[in-house]
Amino acid sequence: MSLSIEPLEHVGVQVLDFDLRQPISDAMAEELKALWYEHAILVFREQDIDAETQIELSRVFGPLAIHPLPSTRHPDHPELFINKAGDEDDYLTLAYFDGEPLVARLDWHVDLIYTGKPNHGAVLRAVQVPDNEGMTGFGDRALAYDRLDSETQALLSDLEVAYHFVQNQGQMRFCDNVKFEPGPNLPKSVEEAGVPDFPDAAYPAVGTHPVSGRQVLQIVPFFLNRVIAPEKAGLSEDEADDLLRRIVKHVRRPELHYFHEWSPGDVIMWDNWRAMHCTTGTRPGTKRLVHRTTILGDATLGRQLA
Ligand SMILES: [Fe+2]
Repeated sequence: MSLSIEPLEHVGVQVLDFDLRQPISDAMAEELKALWYEHAILVFREQDIDAETQIELSRVFGPLAIHPLPSTRHPDHPELFINKAGDEDDYLTLAYFDGEPLVARLDWHVDLIYTGKPNHGAVLRAVQVPDNEGMTGFGDRALAYDRLDSETQALLSDLEVAYHFVQNQGQMRFCDNVKFEPGPNLPKSVEEAGVPDFPDAAYPAVGTHPVSGRQVLQIVPFFLNRVIAPEKAGLSEDEADDLLRRIVKHVRRPELHYFHEWSPGDVIMWDNWRAMHCTTGTRPGTKRLVHRTTILGDATLGRQLA
C-alpha cells in the first residue's frame, strides 16, 4: 500500500484516506517513517483514536519520553502529556500580547533546545479544541536553510550559536517582545518556577539532520542568546547580533510555515530535529485539551557549555 498525501500550505503534508485505528504493519511503519523524514510535518485529519492507539502510533517513530512532572501525565498512560487550557491553571501561563490576555502562547521554538539534546519529535492529538483560536504553527528549518543566499549559508557554516534557559519569553533576546507583558503569575525566574536551571547549550548554526542528512538551520528565536566567539568569523558582537536578528526575521517568513486550525481528532506529528513550532494561544477560560506523546532520539545535536 502506498500512502496518499496532499501538500499543506507551504510545508508538511496531510495524509489522506488513512484510518489510524488500523494495525500498522512493518511495511506501513517504514512508509510512515520515510514520509516523516521527507516532509517533517504529517497531518491526519479527524481521526477517531484513543490513548493506546496514539501511543502505539508514536512508538513507530521511536521510544517515548515520560514527562518529568507527574501532574501533567495521563493517570493511566504515563507516556501521554496532558496539554489543557480553560480552567484555573490558565493563570500559570497567562501573558499579555499587545494588551490581549492569552494562555500558552509561545513564539517559534524547538523543544528542549536549551539542553543540547532536543527530543526527536512529538505527536499531538486534539481531544477538545475551540474554533478559530489555539492554532499550532510549524516551520521547516531545512527549507529555511535552502532559501538562504549562498553567501549567508557560507557565513553560517562556520558559526556556533548559544541558547540560554530563562523562564519567560520577555527575557529572551530574539523573541518578538515589543508588546509582551508577563501575566501576574507567570514565573519571573527559574527559581520561582521551581524547575532545574540549565547551562547554556551550543549548536552549529547549521546542523546535519541525523537521519536524512539535510542541512538544517539551528537558529530559532526562543532561548536564542548569542553567537559564540563571533570574532573567529571576523564579526563584532553587535554585528553577530545583527546577523541573528536577520536570520530570525528570515525564519519568521510565512512562506516557511504551516498553521494548523484544529478540529477534534486531528493528529499531527513533527520532526523536532528539523521543524520548529509555535502556538497562538487561547483566551483565558477557553476549553482546550490536546494529548501529546514525545519521541526520544539518540542523537545529540548540540552540547552543553560549562
Ligand atoms: Fe513546544
